[in-house]
Amino acid sequence: PRKILVDTDPGGDDTFALLWLQSLVKQGFAEWVGVTTVAGNVSPELTFANACKVLALGGFESVKVGKSVVWEGGKIGDAAEVHGIDGLCNLSHLLPNSPRQFAAAPDADDMIIETLEAAPGEVTVIGLGPLTNLAAAEQKRPGILRLAKELVLMAGAFDVPGNVTSLAEFNVAFNPEAAVTVLESREDVVILPLDVTRKLILTVEMTEAIAQAYPTLELAQFIHQLSQFMSNSCLQHRETAGINGFLVHDAVTLAYLFYPETLLFRRGLVTVETAGNYTRGQTILDRRHGTKSLTNAFVAVEVEAINLLGILVDDLKRLCSQ
Ligand code: BDR
Ligand code: CA
Repeated sequence: PRKILVDTDPGGDDTFALLWLQSLVKQGFAEWVGVTTVAGNVSPELTFANACKVLALGGFESVKVGKSVVWEGGKIGDAAEVHGIDGLCNLSHLLPNSPRQFAAAPDADDMIIETLEAAPGEVTVIGLGPLTNLAAAEQKRPGILRLAKELVLMAGAFDVPGNVTSLAEFNVAFNPEAAVTVLESREDVVILPLDVTRKLILTVEMTEAIAQAYPTLELAQFIHQLSQFMSNSCLQHRETAGINGFLVHDAVTLAYLFYPETLLFRRGLVTVETAGNYTRGQTILDRRHGTKSLTNAFVAVEVEAINLLGILVDDLKRLCSQ
């Protein structure tokens, strides 16, 4: 099984990714080596608490969880308007509190460094939030991200509008300098941008099927309630207006790793705008032809959305059946 470290800011769609990964671990496809939480959708404390609760839901209490690196440079706010004030669709009170203490948790950057140094070339790192922790690890220990087997990010927007500004996607816009550091760390960063994640529209009918199949199971009801909240939230924000369902952005990273036949990629050089008043956080893929030796990324350009949503729902049902 593939060893996985997830860096995340749960987050409605992060939670779907975490639950999907639980299913994949239980099916024997993945081994979960840790979770680092990062400030983004909500605060460091809330992303930590949410990750712990979601792990406990599937019986993953023993997975180590790190807390966000503190970073004060933020110019854009969190995304509590989209994900609920608790970051968990205002449902976190329904889940038992985890006994884990935020104050006692390891710092995310140290945890990333230790995890990668302990198994060079073996651990796949998945980034589902702003790139603050990953960049901090790289700055503390230059070259560390190269020790990951693969680095897979939900990040950026290329040929579609952004979701924070007209050009910038949240995970990059939140901390563009961190995104630059991470993109400069390797030649093969795998990027799942809004271009594909916007097509992944999970409808309430799809999760209703899960809730109906397991009417007394807390997990199944939680999945459906999250989906209802996020669908409603989508309708209320102008960047997702008209979308009838929930964009499960972060989950696409797992599609790349475990169902790669559902995606198409373009290889190239991706840079991030850090200066412009209107363009800060924009991701740019250089598509000019000619001799260019430098590439740093594989950018997803197409996804078989319907097939993938079916696979996701099946795997979530499998998780519920255990
Ligand atoms: C990204 O922004 C966050 O709000 C989501 O969790 C996802 O990681 C999508 O742009
Ligand atoms: Ca996220």
